[in-house]
Amino acid sequence: MYNIIIKIVCVVNTQLKYHRISEIKKEEFLGKEIRIRGWVYRLRRQKDKAFIIMRDDRGGIIQCVVPSTTVQELTIESSLEVQGILFKDERAKEGGYEIRGNDVKIYSLANNDFPIREYQSTELLLDYRHLTLRTRKMITIAKIRATVLEKLRNWFVENDWIEVTTPTLVKSAVEGGSTLFPVKYFKDEAFLSQSAQLYLEALIFSLGPVWTIGPSFRAEKSRTLRHLAEYLHLEAEAPWITMNDLFSIQEKLLIHLIRHVTKDRNQELIFLNRDILTLNQMTEPFDKLSYSQAIDILCSNDINIQDGEVTRKIEWGDDLNIDSEKLLTKDRRNPVFVYGYPLQVKPFYVKEDPERQGIALTADLLLPEGFGEVSSGGMREENITLLKSRIKKEGLNMDSYSWYLDLRKYGSVPHGGFGIGIERLVRWIINLEDIKECVLFPRTMARLNP
Ligand code: 4AD
Ligand code: MG
Repeated sequence: MYNIIIKIVCVVNTQLKYHRISEIKKEEFLGKEIRIRGWVYRLRRQKDKAFIIMRDDRGGIIQCVVPSTTVQELTIESSLEVQGILFKDERAKEGGYEIRGNDVKIYSLANNDFPIREYQSTELLLDYRHLTLRTRKMITIAKIRATVLEKLRNWFVENDWIEVTTPTLVKSAVEGGSTLFPVKYFKDEAFLSQSAQLYLEALIFSLGPVWTIGPSFRAEKSRTLRHLAEYLHLEAEAPWITMNDLFSIQEKLLIHLIRHVTKDRNQELIFLNRDILTLNQMTEPFDKLSYSQAIDILCSNDINIQDGEVTRKIEWGDDLNIDSEKLLTKDRRNPVFVYGYPLQVKPFYVKEDPERQGIALTADLLLPEGFGEVSSGGMREENITLLKSRIKKEGLNMDSYSWYLDLRKYGSVPHGGFGIGIERLVRWIINLEDIKECVLFPRTMARLNP
């Protein structure tokens, strides 16, 4: 008789489905038999009982109490399955629920030296990023990042922009030769793409408004908290568009993003101590500041720039550096567009303002709270003669742009677009100091591994 009962229990057990931890922390599951799979996050042994804080594969956390004898060899990060009854217990860590386990199955015992502990240096956490990804902070960041990508995509789909993909291996520079990564390409030399823009410009003739998201590469020699060597780049381009359209598209895109991310990832943002009210203070239209106004503000605040070896006061004609952008945005709650840069600080493709010689029809979008540039965009030069002279002036190889110049020969139209750095965006949304935290496997001058 006893044997028969045991058999029935076993049959029932194997039919019990696995639950995600986030699903079961509810009244309706109390007193029910639950089965979860995951890893040991924390472990405390008493004489008869062991308290396992378990993490599942979506970062859900729950306390499990099991007989000590079942987990004698258990170590942090061992993978296991626990079956037991769900109880509510005020004392239970991580939300007041606990599983009183009656069955434990160990999949793999982890080595006893899991290197990620509570207080570790940033460098060690980066060296072990493949394991650091299991920490609650990284899981939370990864989820927010995924939602950012989802909401951005939704906006483009809802607004009838066509998604395209463009090559990573390219023959020519988009954003100047100094940050190109050369790659051996059979018997030739290629580069890793800095921007999909030139390809998007080719696609607007047949697809209208297009957008893409993919990696861009910059051989940035500077070590800053906002530069990566490889970053995720969202770019959009459309025919028959104006500067005002470019402002409005980016405003609508960002407002849509923030409203949805703060709603869908509310708990995650709170966990990371992000002040959601401040984020949601963003309203349309964003402020607009001319480059000249920006320079006046920076001059009156004695902002310095690095000019080769020399440090000197910023003046009209200089590009804005990190300190400049910080000063211009630290007291703002709304992003701000800076427009009307001098042509000389912008790439060869930007269009000159027909009414203001030497001024580019471009705008950078700076994020508030001191974060600074998240996007650059503007109108593109349509005149082939001007374009050729700009390519020459920048010392770029004309031959590799012949296909791009064709776009000006066969029915060119006024057009423009912009590019947003995803990690810069995530850095602001979460309010993180270092851009390396906003990407799962960061690539910088000093880091190619893991
Ligand atoms: O300002 P950038 O260089 O502009 C372009 O590439 C244009 N062709 C985009 C376009 O109009 N289609 O790069 C665009 C954005 C920057 O504003 C910044 O957010 C991000 O890409 N970005 C970087 N992010 C992280 N690390 C780097 N090294 C970055 N360089 C640019
Ligand atoms: Mg830029």
